[in-house]
Order: sequence, then C-alpha cells, then structure tokens
Amino acid sequence: MPEQNPPLASAGSYALGPRRVRRIGYGAMQLAGDNVFGPPRDRDEALRVLRAAVAAGVDHIDTAQYYGPGVVNELIREALHPYPDDLAIVSKVAARRDESGAVLPYDEPHQLREGVEDNLATLGVDRLAAVNLRMVDRTAAPGRRFDSQLAALVRARDEGLIDGIGLSNISREHLLRAVDQTEIVCVQNLFNLADQGSVDVLQECTGRGIAFVPFCPLGWPRGVQNRILSSPALGDLGRRLGATPAQLALAWLLDLAPNILLIPGTRTRTHLAENLTTASVRLDEASREELAREFPTRVSRERGRG
Ligand SMILES: NC(=O)c1ccc[n+]([C@@H]2O[C@H](COP(=O)([O-])OP(=O)(O)OC[C@H]3O[C@@H](n4cnc5c(N)ncnc54)[C@H](OP(=O)(O)O)[C@@H]3O)[C@@H](O)[C@H]2O)c1
Repeated sequence: MPEQNPPLASAGSYALGPRRVRRIGYGAMQLAGDNVFGPPRDRDEALRVLRAAVAAGVDHIDTAQYYGPGVVNELIREALHPYPDDLAIVSKVAARRDESGAVLPYDEPHQLREGVEDNLATLGVDRLAAVNLRMVDRTAAPGRRFDSQLAALVRARDEGLIDGIGLSNISREHLLRAVDQTEIVCVQNLFNLADQGSVDVLQECTGRGIAFVPFCPLGWPRGVQNRILSSPALGDLGRRLGATPAQLALAWLLDLAPNILLIPGTRTRTHLAENLTTASVRLDEASREELAREFPTRVSRERGRG
C-alpha cells in the first residue's frame, strides 16, 4: 500500500451522491496542453502527477472529454486504470472543441448522451461517479430546454451509466428548478476568495447537503494578475501561519462550509503536494478576519448537513 497523506485524511470527507469522498481532490484540466488543448508539455510528469495524487489518498478526480479534447481522459486512463474501487471520477458534458481549440456548445439532449458515452469510452469505465451538466450561460433563466437537458442525464443515470447528476456554471434558479425534478449530487461553479459571486448557490447547496465544488479555487486570471496568489496580505498571513498563499486560499474554502470539495489543478507534483497538505493549515479567528479584510465576504461559515 502506498503511504497516504495524513493531512489529506484530516480534511474529512463529504457525500458525493451515494459515496463519500475526501474533501481535497484533484482537478485534471491543467494536464492538457496550453489552453487545455492538445498534448501536455511534459507527458511523463502528467502521468506522475495523477499517480502521486491517488497514492497520496485522493479519491475524487475531476475531468472532461473536451479537455484536450480526449487528452486528459486518456492520461487518466493510462496512469490509473484499473482504477481503485474508491476512486470517484467526475466528468462534465455540454461542450466540444473544434480544430482550432475553440470551445463550442454541445448541449442538445442527444449530444449530452453522446458526451457521457465518450467519457466512459476514453476513461475505460462502465459507469462514472457523477457527470455535470455544464451550462454555457449561468445568467440565462432555466426553462423547458434546461429540463430536457436534465432529462437526458436522468436517463443516463437510470440506465446505470452514471451514479449521480451534477450541475456546473449555474444560478440558484437552475438549482431550484433541477432539485424539483431529480436528485443533484454536486454543483461546480467558479468560486474563490476573490470571486464569491456564487455565494447564493453555495449556501443553497450547503442547506440541502449537496457537494459544492469550486472551480478555479486559486483564482482567475492566472499569472501576475491573480489577486489571490500575488496578494501581499496573503503572503504576510502565510508567513505567520507557515502556509503559502495557495494553501491559504484552499484552507479558506475548507473552513467556509463542510460541503465544499476541493479540486485544485496543477501540472506539477510540487504544487500537488502543497495543495494536498492544505488541511494542516488551521485558520484562527484573527486570520479569518485578516482574509475578510483583504477579500470582503458575504459568506458566513456554515455547518450544513451531509
Ligand atoms: N466546470 C467548469 O466549467 C470548470 C472550469 C474550470 C475548471 N474546472 C475544474 O476545476 C479544476 C480546478 O480549476 P483550475 O485548474 O482551472 O484552477 P485552479 O485549481 O484554481 O488553479 C490552477 C492554476 O494554479 C496553479 N497552481 C496550482 N497549485 C498551485 C500552488 N500550490 N501554488 C501556486 N500555483 C498553483 C497551476 O499552475 P501549475 O500547473 O504550475 O501548478 C494552475 O495554473 C480544473 O482542473 C478542472 O478540473 C471546471
């Protein structure tokens, strides 16, 4: 048995539909080439990152057929198949890439079904832990079209292709309309210290016991414009707590609500190790206040259920 990462286990777990997963997982999007298109710059390192994640105890990996396209799922399969029984692979559907790399909607009900089947084929599985319906526009009011998209995933679940249905890039209205029709096991929206625009969706999920999986948990855009990773205040606080800005950003999310599941993405084992030890960073009241001064928040820490 590979040695597992004690702080990873100490972050606890949360329900992802019928199973529980550790609260720190791994988002595999970064493993494709630049702009999530084409092969990775360093294929061997990509495979090593995936194996290191699972060896450390990660049991929740996020992916999509359109990452690459096909590239990330194929890396996951090559690195990890046959998969550990407890590994939850979660994918998403409703987009495709063209030859230039542009991301296009692929979200008619029959295309969603095709998307699920493509994921199963490239990952080499009969069933996925969950598949997210990734909406193109979270501001568009949900209506009959949304219902028919959801129905395509309900059929896939009824036929045993997926264990659970998730939603991504949605508004609270989408969530409320969806839960009237079927069980939703997770929601994946943009959310981080610097962008808390989905706070209403987070709070709805927390109250209902639905896993909330923030994407871009380390902030957007990347590089020097990244307000989180380049924040002097986070640097100062990190020095006091013995943590990096990335660990603080992730620790803030873990601390915020019990139903938040992390899937930080990285191409390197160094950052992977840093992200997976986030649970060893404990925020006290003074550090919470410092973070709130730098990144004003409307979120109150939640207990939730699940
Ligand atoms: N549903 C959706 O629409 C959607 C959209 C976007 C993403 N996602 C999913 O969410 C996952 C996470 O989002 P993300 O990957 O876009 O963003 P992220 O996890 O917030 O950040 C990844 C970026 O941060 C860097 N990074 C990672 N760990 C770091 C550390 N410890 N210190 C400094 N830099 C670090 C990475 O560079 P290095 O490679 O150099 O470490 C990479 O550029 C994705 O992998 C994907 O699975 C879903």
